[in-house]
Amino acid sequence: MPVITIANTKGGAGKTTAAVLIATELAQMGLHVTVFDSDPQHWFSQWFETARPRGTISLVNHVTASALEGHMRHMDRARDYYIIDLAGERNQLTATALAFSDLVLIPVQGAGMDAKGAAKILDILARIEAETGVAIPHSVLLSRVNPMVTTHSLLAIKGLLAQRGVDVLATPVIERAAFREMFDRGVTLHDMDVGKVSNLDKALQNARGLADEVMRHLPVRVVSTAPRKRPWQWGRAA
Ligand SMILES: Nc1ncnc2c1ncn2[C@@H]1O[C@H](COP(=O)(O)OP(=O)(O)OP(=O)(O)O)[C@@H](O)[C@H]1O
Ligand SMILES: [Mg+2]
Repeated sequence: MPVITIANTKGGAGKTTAAVLIATELAQMGLHVTVFDSDPQHWFSQWFETARPRGTISLVNHVTASALEGHMRHMDRARDYYIIDLAGERNQLTATALAFSDLVLIPVQGAGMDAKGAAKILDILARIEAETGVAIPHSVLLSRVNPMVTTHSLLAIKGLLAQRGVDVLATPVIERAAFREMFDRGVTLHDMDVGKVSNLDKALQNARGLADEVMRHLPVRVVSTAPRKRPWQWGRAA
C-alpha cells in the first residue's frame, strides 16, 4: 500500500492534474487506488464526481491532519495505492502527509518557475530526515512542459537538479489541451473523442508512461518482512 503525496506549496503547479492522471491510469490497470483530496477547494473531488473514472478509486475528502494520520494507521491492505493531493500551501497537513509518504512527487512547472514552492517541500523533507533519520524518497515531476522542448534540454534540467541531489522523473507531464479538458469537461482522457481533442493519443501515452514510472518506483506487491519505518511522531509534532 504505497503512499504517494503530490506536493508543491505553489498553486497551479500541476498537482491535481498529476493526481488525476496517476489515479486514473492505475485504476485502469485494475489496481485499487484511494485518493485523499486535501484541498479545501476540492478540485479532485469535483472532477471525480462527474468523470466517474473506470476501475476502483475511492475518494476521501475533507481531510484534516489528524484524520489523515488515522487513515494511515489503519491502512486497508486491499488497497494498492494511496495518493494524497495536497493544496498549494504549507500547513500541518503538508507535514503529516509528507512524513507518511513512500514517495513524494513535486511537480515543477516550466523548469524552475515553481522553485520556491518546491524548495519548501524539500526543506520539510530534509527536516524530517534530520529529526527522525527517515529519508522519504522524493522526485521532481516536470509539469506543463512545452511539447517543443527537446529530450536534450530535459536531460540538461535533470542533470542540473541531479547535481543538487534532486531526482527527476524521466516522464514529464507535457502541456496538452486534453489535460485541461479533463477539468473543463469533468471527464477522463479515456472518455474523450480522438477526433475532437488534439493529440489525445499523445496525452494518453504520457499519462500511461507516468503511471508506469510511478509503479516502477513503487511496485505495489513487494513482500517485505520489515515494514518501512514511518516517522509517526514527527508527523504529529511538526
Ligand atoms: N500538463 C498540462 N497541460 C495543460 N493544462 C494543464 C497541465 N497541467 C495543469 N494544467 C492546468 O493548469 C491549472 C492548474 O493545474 P492543477 O490544478 O493541476 O495545479 P495544482 O498544483 O493542483 O493547483 P492548486 O495548488 O491550486 O491545487 C489547471 O487549470 C490545469 O487544467
Ligand atoms: Mg490542486
